[in-house]
Amino acid sequence: LTNEPKDKDFKKETDFGFLNISPSEKTAKVRAVFDHVASQYDLMNDLMSAGLHRAWKNQFVDQVSLKPDVKILDVAGGTGDIASRLWAKLQKKMLQGTIIICDINERMLQEGKDRALNNGLLKGIEWVCGNAERLPFPSNSMDVYTIAFGLRNVTYKETALQEAFRVLKPGGQFLCLEFSCLQDGLLAPLYDLYSFKVLPMLGKWVTGNGPAYQYLAESIRRFPNQTTLKGMMEDAGFSMVSYQNLFKGLTAIHQGWKKI
Ligand SMILES: C[S@@+](CC[C@H](N)C(=O)[O-])C[C@H]1O[C@@H](n2cnc3c(N)ncnc32)[C@H](O)[C@@H]1O
Repeated sequence: LTNEPKDKDFKKETDFGFLNISPSEKTAKVRAVFDHVASQYDLMNDLMSAGLHRAWKNQFVDQVSLKPDVKILDVAGGTGDIASRLWAKLQKKMLQGTIIICDINERMLQEGKDRALNNGLLKGIEWVCGNAERLPFPSNSMDVYTIAFGLRNVTYKETALQEAFRVLKPGGQFLCLEFSCLQDGLLAPLYDLYSFKVLPMLGKWVTGNGPAYQYLAESIRRFPNQTTLKGMMEDAGFSMVSYQNLFKGLTAIHQGWKKI
């Protein structure tokens, strides 16, 4: 695995939550965060969002365009939460297809593989350890690229978007689900209180790692807002870029297409 950026993209500093650190440090720190929380990751998602992440993920997967023998790449796929929904959607429509989960973190993938084995979800799902910034897949090879709650953790987001564009076939669909910019000023103080006080405490209690959830809250605030991300996708080459706010913009689904 290499995390070396292209020269033109090189940055001396990048964000890690509210801190500015070197890009290589960020990759290592993000990996450490997910190494540490991997075994409690799914439980913590349910607790901290009161189950809302399930509804967001279902809405996200509903937007995926399926066709026979579709090839879907789920980047930063972690424990396979999106992939298992995609798999169920394929089954429901009685379609064959391939779902490839690509994540930089072996432990998250291992957690997912164990869970998939328990649930009998093995056929049609591949697990690949790889970096969103240097995808180990050929150009023009995927019909759909999904990334959920992943782009925020990537050091070179523009490079990851260019990689998404590269691996998609002409006519391919890009979908990103991510925390975004809350559009309701009245809720903002409550959201801040929850993010910066309650969440790290909950994280410490459940995973033993409060700072990992402090990082989560901070990284959300540093992530590009809806219109900025839309612009970044257009810069990467995507057409017909649009976004949909969920829960007053707490999260958003961005969608774009690689023109035929
Ligand atoms: C918050 S989890 C999201 C997991 C899953 N998509 C979900 O929605 O439950 C973020 C994932 O991004 C992965 N990740 C972070 N940086 C990455 C990178 N540069 N390339 C690929 N995966 C990365 C982490 O290892 C982690 O599994």
